[in-house]
Amino acid sequence: MRKIVVGVTGSIAAYKAAELVRLFVKNGDEVHVVMTSAACEFVSPLTFRTLSRNPVLVDQCAEPAEWRPEHVSLAEMADLVVVAPATANTIAKMAHGIADNLLAATLLATRAQIAVAPAMNCGMWANPATQENVATLVKRGVLVIHPREGELACGTAGAGRMAEPAEIFKELK
Ligand SMILES: Cc1cc2nc3c(=O)[nH]c(=O)nc-3n(C[C@H](O)[C@H](O)[C@H](O)COP(=O)(O)O)c2cc1C
Repeated sequence: MRKIVVGVTGSIAAYKAAELVRLFVKNGDEVHVVMTSAACEFVSPLTFRTLSRNPVLVDQCAEPAEWRPEHVSLAEMADLVVVAPATANTIAKMAHGIADNLLAATLLATRAQIAVAPAMNCGMWANPATQENVATLVKRGVLVIHPREGELACGTAGAGRMAEPAEIFKELK
């Protein structure tokens, strides 16, 4: 049984992460969801708690279930950490070693394989800052599941649409 940490960040594609969690659980994986506070504006932690069958973690300073800081226990327990959707902001934090929330700290602390499925407006995706950050992650061994071309939530079309949950699941199987 794989132990998978699913990081959910503040994109409209956060609703698609619910389906990804469902697919992992159906596959027999143990899933722990970590949300950024921006992600909680899009989808309720309750959705992920119910689908993952585990408590959802958001706040780094919340009373932890055990004595160890949660970013450390999550980081060490995980076989795989998947960030889906991954915002431009969280990708930038990963590229620069910033650890200012529970998800970012977990990503910095883990030795597990990391995968990211970016989701963003086509301008954000095409921006050299994002492209350089993504290239940095690839160089470090992060698996990047590239966004697809298509209709975007901002009303435009282009590259930036998160890969479908079934595609992400298949790549990580
Ligand atoms: C309606 C709405 C949709 C957004 N969608 C995205 C998105 O798809 N990708 C992205 O990188 N940022 C998006 N943002 C901006 C992020 O939510 C913002 O950068 C936030 O700080 C990300 O925080 P996080 O990386 O900690 O989750 C969106 C913001 C709003 C208000």
